[in-house]
Amino acid sequence: MADNENNPPQPSGSWPIPGEQTDELVRAAFPLRLGLVEGKVALVTGAGRGIGEATARLFAVEGAAVVVCDIDGDAAQSVVQSIQERGGEAVAVVADLTKEDEVAAVITTAIDRYGRLDCAVNNAGVSGRFGSFIDLPLHEWQHMINVNLTSVFLCLKYELGVMAAQGFGSIVNVSSGAGVVAAPGLPHYTAAKHGVLGLTKCAATEFAAKGVRVNAILPGTTRTPMINGFINGDPAMEKMVSRGIGRGYMGEPSEIAESAVWLCSDRASFVCGESLLVDGATVCR
Ligand SMILES: NC(=O)c1ccc[n+]([C@@H]2O[C@H](COP(=O)([O-])OP(=O)(O)OC[C@H]3O[C@@H](n4cnc5c(N)ncnc54)[C@H](O)[C@@H]3O)[C@@H](O)[C@H]2O)c1
Repeated sequence: MADNENNPPQPSGSWPIPGEQTDELVRAAFPLRLGLVEGKVALVTGAGRGIGEATARLFAVEGAAVVVCDIDGDAAQSVVQSIQERGGEAVAVVADLTKEDEVAAVITTAIDRYGRLDCAVNNAGVSGRFGSFIDLPLHEWQHMINVNLTSVFLCLKYELGVMAAQGFGSIVNVSSGAGVVAAPGLPHYTAAKHGVLGLTKCAATEFAAKGVRVNAILPGTTRTPMINGFINGDPAMEKMVSRGIGRGYMGEPSEIAESAVWLCSDRASFVCGESLLVDGATVCR
């Protein structure tokens, strides 16, 4: 039996090197390109880095044209450039998704450029400062709700409008394990991520019969710049975090991306209103 404490099990096969995520590495892990979303048009928010970047790259590898949206224009452009250098199709759009006019402009750009919108992954988000309820300033609460919940509502509002008119589409909202259990010390993050699941269920219920599927993924701790900010390169900290994960290691962004792209694909045609934990056995323990 593996000694989970000192020798955590690692993913088998030629898996991406921790901290790196390129489409070549995704291909190395999964040499069979499935064409899961061949010919589709996909929007990914917060796609300049982390889970969103890996998702945008995987969409491109699997055959979609990708709208790479982020508040950080340089990051979005660099993801687009690297997709294009590998023969993929992508366009960068800069937007602060807490602002309704900017969200509307993202959708307009996608339609102007590609004529329709088949898939959307509402992933953009921020983490928060740990602390007690009683020390949480109202402005930090409001910022968290704006970025992690209101932006998802706004994206849904415009994506659903387009997809319902088309009569097809698939949306994945990125929640968190904190969408179903408390993240102690992060009441604002926990509330926002629970809210994302509520939005997902309402949207799925209203739009299922109109040909649009809406689902959520709930990533566990994943090796992204957001988490690197907490870990701060400290191996003891990483070990402590990994100890709470059944698989014994932090997820790679590409492992989360797989679930988002599959849910957006026609292979998941009867999956609708689902909240899918992708956390290596964390919440279930
Ligand atoms: N990394 C994890 O362990 C983890 C776990 C559970 C859930 N999540 C969720 O996954 C999503 C992605 O997380 P990540 O770890 O890749 O984060 P990250 O910080 O590495 O990347 C987030 C991206 O979102 C963008 N963004 C932030 N605010 C924005 C705004 N207002 N408008 C447009 N873009 C904006 C950032 O510029 C950045 O590129 C988030 O919703 C996060 O809450 C992450």
